[in-house]
Amino acid sequence: MPLTRLIYVSTLSKSCDSVALKDILHKSREHNITSKITGLLSHNEKYFMQCLEGSREEINRTYNYIVNDPRHSKVTIVYFEEIHSRQFGDWSMGDVPQSHLTSLLNLQFSGSDEFKPYDLTGQSAYLMLLELKQHLPSE
Ligand SMILES: Cc1cc2nc3c(=O)[nH]c(=O)nc-3n(C[C@H](O)[C@H](O)[C@H](O)COP(=O)(O)O)c2cc1C
Repeated sequence: MPLTRLIYVSTLSKSCDSVALKDILHKSREHNITSKITGLLSHNEKYFMQCLEGSREEINRTYNYIVNDPRHSKVTIVYFEEIHSRQFGDWSMGDVPQSHLTSLLNLQFSGSDEFKPYDLTGQSAYLMLLELKQHLPSE
C-alpha cells in the first residue's frame, strides 16, 4: 500500500476545550502508533491544521473517524499526495504549541499575520508544518 500524506484544516467546536484537546492527542497517539501513522497537529483557539502520513488505507480509515468527530467541523482537505518518504516520522502526533504560530510565521506563508489555515494553499500548509517541526522536540 503506497505511503501518503494528507493535510486538512477544521474549525474547533465550542465544546472543544483543553480537556478535549488532551483526549484527542492521547487517543490519536495510541491509535496512530498501532496504525503506523505519523504527523503533527497545530491549532489556535479557532482552527486546527493536521498532517497525517501513513499507508493510503490507514490514512483513509483514520480520516473518516476524524471527519465525523463532533469536536470540530468544516473539515477540509487542503493537501493530499503519494510520497516516497515521511517528513514527520518522529511524531505519532506532534503537538505544536500555539505560541509557535507567530505573526512572522503566518506572514511567511500567507497574506495575513494571523493563523487562517483555510486561506493557505496546500503547499503553504505543508511548508508551514515543515517549518514548525524544526522547533518541536521528537516524541
Ligand atoms: C482535530 C482532531 C484530530 C484527530 N486526530 C486523530 C488522529 O491523528 N488519529 C486518531 O486515531 N484519531 C484522531 N482524532 C480522534 C478521532 O476523531 C476519534 O475520536 C478517535 O479515533 C476515536 O477513537 P475511539 O473510538 O477509540 O474513542 C482526532 C480528532 C480531532 C477532533
